[in-house]
Amino acid sequence: MLAHRLEGIGEYYFSQKLREIDGMNKEGRNVINLGIGSPDLPPHPDVIRILQEESAKPNVHAYQGYKGSPVLRQAIANWYSRWYGVSLDPDAHILPLMGSKEGIMHICMTYLNPGDVALVPNPGYPTYRSAVKLAGGTVVEYHLREQNHWFPDFEEMEAMLHALSLPGECRPKLLFVNYPHMPTGQLPERGMLQTLIAFAEKHDLLLIHDNPYSFILNDHPLSLLSLPGAMERVLELNSLSKSQNMAGWRIGMLCGHRQRIDEVLRFKSNMDSGMFLPVQLAAARALSLEGDWYAALNAVYRIRREKAFEILDMLHCTYDNSQAGMFVWAAIPDRYESGYALSDEVLHGSHVFITPGGIFGDAGNRFIRISLCSPSEKMEEAIRRIRQAGIAH
Ligand SMILES: Cc1ncc(COP(=O)(O)O)c(C=O)c1O
Repeated sequence: MLAHRLEGIGEYYFSQKLREIDGMNKEGRNVINLGIGSPDLPPHPDVIRILQEESAKPNVHAYQGYKGSPVLRQAIANWYSRWYGVSLDPDAHILPLMGSKEGIMHICMTYLNPGDVALVPNPGYPTYRSAVKLAGGTVVEYHLREQNHWFPDFEEMEAMLHALSLPGECRPKLLFVNYPHMPTGQLPERGMLQTLIAFAEKHDLLLIHDNPYSFILNDHPLSLLSLPGAMERVLELNSLSKSQNMAGWRIGMLCGHRQRIDEVLRFKSNMDSGMFLPVQLAAARALSLEGDWYAALNAVYRIRREKAFEILDMLHCTYDNSQAGMFVWAAIPDRYESGYALSDEVLHGSHVFITPGGIFGDAGNRFIRISLCSPSEKMEEAIRRIRQAGIAH
Protein backbone atom coordinates (compact mmCIF):
# COMPACT_ATOMS: atom_id res chain seq x y z
CA MET A 1 0.00 0.00 0.00
CA LEU A 2 2.75 2.40 0.97
CA ALA A 3 3.93 4.96 -1.58
CA HIS A 4 7.48 4.53 -2.88
CA ARG A 5 8.37 7.97 -1.59
CA LEU A 6 8.32 6.62 1.95
CA GLU A 7 10.93 3.97 1.16
CA GLY A 8 14.07 4.70 3.15
CA ILE A 9 12.23 7.27 5.26
CA GLY A 10 12.16 5.94 8.79
CA GLU A 11 10.15 7.18 11.68
CA TYR A 12 11.85 10.26 13.13
CA TYR A 13 14.53 9.00 15.56
CA PHE A 14 13.14 11.06 18.42
CA SER A 15 9.62 9.70 18.10
CA GLN A 16 11.05 6.15 18.38
CA LYS A 17 13.31 7.07 21.29
CA LEU A 18 10.51 8.88 23.10
CA ARG A 19 8.51 5.64 22.98
CA GLU A 20 11.40 3.79 24.65
CA ILE A 21 11.73 6.55 27.26
CA ASP A 22 7.95 6.44 27.78
CA GLY A 23 8.18 2.72 28.42
CA MET A 24 10.97 3.30 30.98
CA ASN A 25 8.88 6.00 32.67
CA LYS A 26 5.90 3.66 32.89
CA GLU A 27 8.20 1.32 34.83
CA GLY A 28 8.85 4.24 37.21
CA ARG A 29 12.30 5.24 35.92
CA ASN A 30 11.59 8.99 35.61
CA VAL A 31 14.05 9.56 32.76
CA ILE A 32 15.61 13.03 32.43
CA ASN A 33 15.45 13.89 28.75
CA LEU A 34 18.37 16.07 27.68
CA GLY A 35 17.62 15.30 24.04
CA ILE A 36 14.92 17.37 22.46
CA GLY A 37 15.38 21.05 21.61
CA SER A 38 11.95 22.37 22.53
CA PRO A 39 12.25 25.41 24.82
CA ASP A 40 10.72 24.74 28.25
CA LEU A 41 10.31 28.46 29.00
CA PRO A 42 7.11 30.34 28.04
CA PRO A 43 6.80 33.18 25.54
CA HIS A 44 6.70 36.78 26.79
CA PRO A 45 3.46 37.49 28.79
CA ASP A 46 2.38 40.16 26.26
CA VAL A 47 2.41 37.50 23.54
CA ILE A 48 0.04 35.29 25.52
CA ARG A 49 -2.17 38.25 26.41
CA ILE A 50 -2.54 39.21 22.76
CA LEU A 51 -3.47 35.66 21.81
CA GLN A 52 -6.10 35.61 24.55
CA GLU A 53 -7.55 39.03 23.74
CA GLU A 54 -7.58 38.55 20.00
CA SER A 55 -9.09 35.08 20.08
CA ALA A 56 -12.00 36.42 22.20
CA LYS A 57 -13.03 38.70 19.32
CA PRO A 58 -15.80 37.51 17.00
CA ASN A 59 -14.21 38.40 13.67
CA VAL A 60 -10.87 36.57 13.79
CA HIS A 61 -11.95 33.00 13.12
CA ALA A 62 -12.12 32.92 9.36
CA TYR A 63 -9.52 31.51 6.96
CA GLN A 64 -6.59 33.84 6.59
CA GLY A 65 -4.65 34.93 3.53
CA TYR A 66 -2.10 32.48 2.13
CA LYS A 67 0.65 35.05 2.50
CA GLY A 68 -0.05 35.78 6.17
CA SER A 69 -1.36 38.87 7.88
CA PRO A 70 0.18 42.19 6.74
CA VAL A 71 0.75 42.94 10.44
CA LEU A 72 2.95 39.85 10.81
CA ARG A 73 4.82 40.49 7.57
CA GLN A 74 5.53 44.06 8.65
CA ALA A 75 6.74 42.81 12.05
CA ILE A 76 9.06 40.33 10.32
CA ALA A 77 10.43 43.13 8.11
CA ASN A 78 11.03 45.32 11.18
CA TRP A 79 12.74 42.43 13.00
CA TYR A 80 15.05 41.74 10.06
CA SER A 81 15.90 45.42 9.75
CA ARG A 82 16.53 45.94 13.46
CA TRP A 83 18.52 42.83 14.28
CA TYR A 84 20.10 41.73 11.02
CA GLY A 85 20.35 45.08 9.20
CA VAL A 86 18.45 43.56 6.25
CA SER A 87 15.81 45.58 4.46
CA LEU A 88 12.88 43.48 3.26
CA ASP A 89 9.68 44.51 1.49
CA PRO A 90 6.88 42.98 3.60
CA ASP A 91 4.69 42.57 0.52
CA ALA A 92 7.30 40.88 -1.64
CA HIS A 93 10.19 39.31 0.27
CA ILE A 94 8.45 37.55 3.16
CA LEU A 95 6.33 34.41 3.49
CA PRO A 96 5.16 33.49 7.01
CA LEU A 97 5.33 29.75 7.66
CA MET A 98 3.96 27.31 10.19
CA GLY A 99 7.45 26.69 11.50
CA SER A 100 10.58 26.51 9.40
CA LYS A 101 10.33 22.71 9.18
CA GLU A 102 7.38 22.93 6.79
CA GLY A 103 9.31 25.51 4.77
CA ILE A 104 12.07 22.97 4.13
CA MET A 105 9.51 20.58 2.61
CA HIS A 106 7.83 23.35 0.58
CA ILE A 107 11.16 24.42 -0.90
CA CYS A 108 11.99 20.86 -1.92
CA MET A 109 8.56 20.37 -3.49
CA THR A 110 8.84 23.69 -5.31
CA TYR A 111 12.26 23.16 -6.88
CA LEU A 112 13.20 19.49 -7.11
CA ASN A 113 12.26 17.31 -10.03
CA PRO A 114 12.76 13.57 -9.53
CA GLY A 115 16.50 12.94 -9.41
CA ASP A 116 17.55 16.57 -8.97
CA VAL A 117 20.29 16.95 -6.38
CA ALA A 118 20.21 18.81 -3.10
CA LEU A 119 23.43 19.15 -1.11
CA VAL A 120 22.85 18.70 2.61
CA PRO A 121 25.28 18.99 5.54
CA ASN A 122 26.58 15.94 7.40
CA PRO A 123 26.23 16.33 10.33
CA GLY A 124 23.03 18.33 9.94
CA TYR A 125 19.33 18.62 10.75
CA PRO A 126 17.79 15.30 9.56
CA THR A 127 14.76 17.02 7.98
CA TYR A 128 16.85 18.35 5.06
CA ARG A 129 17.59 14.76 4.03
CA SER A 130 14.06 13.43 4.45
CA ALA A 131 12.39 16.41 2.74
CA VAL A 132 14.65 16.06 -0.30
CA LYS A 133 13.86 12.34 -0.51
CA LEU A 134 10.12 12.84 -0.02
CA ALA A 135 10.15 15.36 -2.86
CA GLY A 136 11.81 12.74 -5.09
CA GLY A 137 15.19 14.47 -5.10
CA THR A 138 18.62 12.95 -4.61
CA VAL A 139 20.52 13.70 -1.43
CA VAL A 140 24.23 14.40 -1.74
CA GLU A 141 25.87 14.94 1.62
CA TYR A 142 28.77 17.32 2.08
CA HIS A 143 30.92 16.70 5.13
CA LEU A 144 31.58 19.20 7.85
CA ARG A 145 34.65 18.58 9.98
CA GLU A 146 35.80 19.86 13.31
CA GLN A 147 39.27 20.75 11.98
CA ASN A 148 37.60 22.98 9.36
CA HIS A 149 35.42 24.74 11.99
CA TRP A 150 32.45 22.73 10.75
CA PHE A 151 32.49 24.84 7.59
CA PRO A 152 32.00 23.32 4.12
CA ASP A 153 35.14 22.14 2.35
CA PHE A 154 34.62 23.97 -0.93
CA GLU A 155 37.26 22.01 -2.87
CA GLU A 156 35.68 18.76 -1.82
CA MET A 157 32.19 20.01 -2.76
CA GLU A 158 33.53 21.17 -6.12
CA ALA A 159 34.95 17.68 -6.76
CA MET A 160 31.69 16.06 -5.65
CA LEU A 161 29.64 18.10 -8.08
CA HIS A 162 32.16 17.41 -10.82
CA ALA A 163 31.95 13.66 -10.22
CA LEU A 164 28.15 13.50 -10.31
CA SER A 165 26.70 11.72 -13.27
CA LEU A 166 23.03 12.48 -13.38
CA PRO A 167 20.42 11.02 -15.70
CA GLY A 168 18.62 13.14 -18.28
CA GLU A 169 17.79 16.65 -17.27
CA CYS A 170 18.52 16.16 -13.57
CA ARG A 171 20.89 18.66 -12.06
CA PRO A 172 22.13 19.97 -8.71
CA LYS A 173 19.70 22.64 -7.57
CA LEU A 174 19.69 23.25 -3.83
CA LEU A 175 22.40 23.73 -1.22
CA PHE A 176 21.25 23.63 2.41
CA VAL A 177 23.31 25.49 5.01
CA ASN A 178 22.64 26.31 8.64
CA TYR A 179 24.76 28.68 10.80
CA PRO A 180 24.76 28.85 13.80
CA HIS A 181 24.98 25.21 12.95
CA MET A 182 22.87 22.54 14.58
CA PRO A 183 24.16 20.19 16.02
CA THR A 184 27.73 21.55 16.33
CA GLY A 185 26.93 25.07 17.58
CA GLN A 186 29.39 26.57 15.09
CA LEU A 187 28.86 30.28 14.42
CA PRO A 188 29.05 31.67 10.89
CA GLU A 189 31.83 33.90 9.56
CA ARG A 190 31.13 36.48 6.89
CA GLY A 191 34.08 35.36 4.74
CA MET A 192 32.84 31.77 4.63
CA LEU A 193 29.29 32.93 3.84
CA GLN A 194 30.60 35.09 1.00
CA THR A 195 32.44 32.06 -0.43
CA LEU A 196 29.19 30.09 -0.14
CA ILE A 197 27.33 32.67 -2.21
CA ALA A 198 30.08 32.65 -4.85
CA PHE A 199 29.99 28.83 -4.90
CA ALA A 200 26.21 28.82 -5.34
CA GLU A 201 26.50 31.36 -8.13
CA LYS A 202 29.19 29.38 -9.93
CA HIS A 203 27.10 26.21 -9.85
CA ASP A 204 23.73 27.89 -10.28
CA LEU A 205 22.44 26.57 -6.95
CA LEU A 206 19.73 28.04 -4.77
CA LEU A 207 21.24 28.48 -1.32
CA ILE A 208 18.84 27.66 1.51
CA HIS A 209 19.97 29.14 4.79
CA ASP A 210 18.21 27.75 7.84
CA ASN A 211 18.73 30.31 10.61
CA PRO A 212 16.64 29.46 13.72
CA TYR A 213 19.46 29.72 16.29
CA SER A 214 20.97 33.13 15.61
CA PHE A 215 19.80 34.68 18.90
CA ILE A 216 20.64 31.80 21.22
CA LEU A 217 23.93 32.21 23.12
CA ASN A 218 25.02 34.61 20.40
CA ASP A 219 25.13 38.39 20.69
CA HIS A 220 25.62 39.04 16.98
CA PRO A 221 22.72 37.60 14.97
CA LEU A 222 23.68 37.32 11.31
CA SER A 223 21.46 36.81 8.29
CA LEU A 224 22.92 35.43 5.09
CA LEU A 225 20.69 37.97 3.33
CA SER A 226 22.88 40.77 4.73
CA LEU A 227 25.75 39.77 2.42
CA PRO A 228 26.23 41.38 -0.99
CA GLY A 229 24.62 39.40 -3.81
CA ALA A 230 22.59 37.21 -1.43
CA MET A 231 19.12 38.36 -2.46
CA GLU A 232 19.51 36.75 -5.89
CA ARG A 233 20.79 33.42 -4.55
CA VAL A 234 19.46 32.83 -1.06
CA LEU A 235 16.23 31.81 0.58
CA GLU A 236 16.49 32.19 4.35
CA LEU A 237 14.33 30.25 6.79
CA ASN A 238 13.84 31.66 10.26
CA SER A 239 11.71 30.74 13.24
CA LEU A 240 10.09 31.94 16.45
CA SER A 241 10.41 28.47 17.96
CA LYS A 242 13.70 29.04 19.75
CA SER A 243 14.33 32.78 20.08
CA GLN A 244 10.76 33.58 21.21
CA ASN A 245 10.06 30.29 23.05
CA MET A 246 7.16 29.53 20.70
CA ALA A 247 8.01 26.10 19.30
CA GLY A 248 4.50 24.71 19.74
CA TRP A 249 2.87 27.76 18.15
CA ARG A 250 4.39 26.83 14.78
CA ILE A 251 5.54 30.15 13.40
CA GLY A 252 8.42 30.62 11.05
CA MET A 253 9.23 32.60 7.95
CA LEU A 254 10.84 32.40 4.56
CA CYS A 255 12.66 35.49 3.25
CA GLY A 256 14.23 36.19 -0.11
CA HIS A 257 13.74 37.36 -3.67
CA ARG A 258 10.13 38.16 -4.61
CA GLN A 259 10.13 35.66 -7.45
CA ARG A 260 11.33 32.83 -5.19
CA ILE A 261 8.72 33.74 -2.55
CA ASP A 262 5.99 33.60 -5.21
CA GLU A 263 7.26 30.24 -6.44
CA VAL A 264 7.19 28.67 -2.97
CA LEU A 265 3.78 30.25 -2.34
CA ARG A 266 2.49 28.52 -5.45
CA PHE A 267 3.16 25.20 -3.74
CA LYS A 268 2.34 26.20 -0.16
CA SER A 269 -1.02 27.77 -1.02
CA ASN A 270 -2.11 24.32 -2.13
CA MET A 271 -1.12 22.79 1.21
CA ASP A 272 -2.78 24.93 3.89
CA SER A 273 -5.30 27.72 4.23
CA GLY A 274 -3.46 30.26 6.32
CA MET A 275 -2.67 30.61 10.02
CA PHE A 276 -5.03 31.53 12.86
CA LEU A 277 -5.02 35.36 12.96
CA PRO A 278 -4.58 35.75 16.77
CA VAL A 279 -1.47 33.54 16.56
CA GLN A 280 -0.08 35.80 13.84
CA LEU A 281 -0.84 38.96 15.83
CA ALA A 282 0.77 37.52 18.94
CA ALA A 283 3.79 36.50 16.87
CA ALA A 284 4.07 40.07 15.60
CA ARG A 285 4.29 41.23 19.21
CA ALA A 286 6.95 38.62 19.97
CA LEU A 287 9.09 39.95 17.15
CA SER A 288 8.97 43.46 18.59
CA LEU A 289 10.52 42.43 21.92
CA GLU A 290 13.48 44.48 23.07
CA GLY A 291 17.04 43.34 23.64
CA ASP A 292 16.34 42.60 27.31
CA TRP A 293 14.18 39.63 26.21
CA TYR A 294 17.10 37.96 24.42
CA ALA A 295 19.50 38.91 27.24
CA ALA A 296 17.27 37.27 29.87
CA LEU A 297 16.86 34.15 27.72
CA ASN A 298 20.58 33.84 27.22
CA ALA A 299 21.32 34.36 30.91
CA VAL A 300 19.28 31.21 31.58
CA TYR A 301 20.95 29.24 28.78
CA ARG A 302 24.41 30.33 29.94
CA ILE A 303 23.83 28.81 33.40
CA ARG A 304 22.49 25.62 31.85
CA ARG A 305 25.41 25.44 29.46
CA GLU A 306 27.78 25.33 32.45
CA LYS A 307 25.83 22.35 33.79
CA ALA A 308 26.07 20.66 30.39
CA PHE A 309 29.83 21.22 30.44
CA GLU A 310 29.91 19.59 33.88
CA ILE A 311 28.12 16.51 32.54
CA LEU A 312 30.48 16.33 29.59
CA ASP A 313 33.54 16.66 31.84
CA MET A 314 32.26 13.75 33.92
CA LEU A 315 31.86 11.70 30.75
CA HIS A 316 35.40 12.69 29.62
CA CYS A 317 34.04 14.31 26.47
CA THR A 318 35.76 17.27 24.80
CA TYR A 319 34.00 20.35 23.46
CA ASP A 320 34.37 23.91 22.25
CA ASN A 321 33.07 26.23 24.98
CA SER A 322 32.10 29.06 22.62
CA GLN A 323 29.26 27.19 20.91
CA ALA A 324 25.98 28.96 20.04
CA GLY A 325 22.46 27.59 19.93
CA MET A 326 20.52 25.60 22.48
CA PHE A 327 22.70 22.49 22.51
CA VAL A 328 26.21 21.52 23.45
CA TRP A 329 28.08 19.26 21.05
CA ALA A 330 30.97 17.17 22.26
CA ALA A 331 33.41 14.49 21.10
CA ILE A 332 33.22 11.19 22.97
CA PRO A 333 36.20 9.36 24.55
CA ASP A 334 38.03 6.81 22.35
CA ARG A 335 36.89 3.82 24.35
CA TYR A 336 33.29 4.14 23.16
CA GLU A 337 32.42 2.60 19.86
CA SER A 338 30.07 5.49 19.04
CA GLY A 339 27.87 8.21 20.48
CA TYR A 340 25.02 5.68 20.42
CA ALA A 341 26.96 3.41 22.80
CA LEU A 342 27.64 6.25 25.23
CA SER A 343 24.02 7.50 24.98
CA ASP A 344 22.66 4.01 25.72
CA GLU A 345 25.04 3.52 28.64
CA VAL A 346 23.91 6.82 30.17
CA LEU A 347 20.23 6.08 29.47
CA HIS A 348 20.25 2.62 30.98
CA GLY A 349 22.80 3.32 33.73
CA SER A 350 21.48 6.64 35.01
CA HIS A 351 18.13 7.22 33.27
CA VAL A 352 19.34 10.35 31.53
CA PHE A 353 18.86 10.68 27.78
CA ILE A 354 21.57 12.41 25.73
CA THR A 355 21.32 12.53 21.94
CA PRO A 356 23.85 10.45 19.99
CA GLY A 357 25.50 12.60 17.31
CA GLY A 358 25.11 9.89 14.67
CA ILE A 359 21.45 10.75 14.13
CA PHE A 360 22.65 13.91 12.38
CA GLY A 361 24.67 11.86 9.87
CA ASP A 362 27.64 9.52 10.14
CA ALA A 363 30.04 12.45 10.54
CA GLY A 364 28.44 12.83 13.97
CA ASN A 365 29.11 9.24 15.05
CA ARG A 366 31.83 10.10 17.53
CA PHE A 367 29.84 12.90 19.19
CA ILE A 368 26.93 13.47 21.53
CA ARG A 369 24.61 16.46 21.95
CA ILE A 370 23.11 17.82 25.18
CA SER A 371 20.06 20.06 25.00
CA LEU A 372 19.80 23.17 27.17
CA CYS A 373 15.99 22.98 27.32
CA SER A 374 15.77 21.58 30.86
CA PRO A 375 15.83 23.62 34.07
CA SER A 376 19.22 23.74 35.86
CA GLU A 377 17.79 21.68 38.74
CA LYS A 378 17.01 18.87 36.29
CA MET A 379 20.51 19.12 34.89
CA GLU A 380 21.93 18.99 38.41
CA GLU A 381 19.86 15.88 39.07
CA ALA A 382 21.29 14.42 35.85
CA ILE A 383 24.80 15.20 37.12
CA ARG A 384 24.03 13.42 40.42
CA ARG A 385 22.64 10.36 38.67
CA ILE A 386 25.54 10.05 36.25
CA ARG A 387 28.04 10.46 39.10
CA GLN A 388 26.25 7.83 41.19
CA ALA A 389 26.12 5.37 38.31
CA GLY A 390 29.89 5.76 37.94
CA ILE A 391 29.63 6.03 34.16
CA ALA A 392 32.78 6.68 32.13
CA HIS A 393 35.32 5.78 34.82
C1 LIG B 1 18.36 23.34 12.37
C2 LIG B 1 16.88 23.38 12.55
N1 LIG B 1 16.11 23.86 11.57
C3 LIG B 1 14.78 23.92 11.69
C4 LIG B 1 14.14 23.46 12.82
C5 LIG B 1 12.64 23.50 12.88
O1 LIG B 1 12.17 24.56 13.58
P1 LIG B 1 10.65 25.01 13.52
O2 LIG B 1 10.11 24.80 14.88
O3 LIG B 1 10.68 26.45 13.11
O4 LIG B 1 9.95 24.17 12.48
C6 LIG B 1 14.89 22.95 13.88
C7 LIG B 1 14.20 22.43 15.08
O5 LIG B 1 14.68 21.75 15.89
C8 LIG B 1 16.29 22.91 13.75
O6 LIG B 1 17.08 22.42 14.71
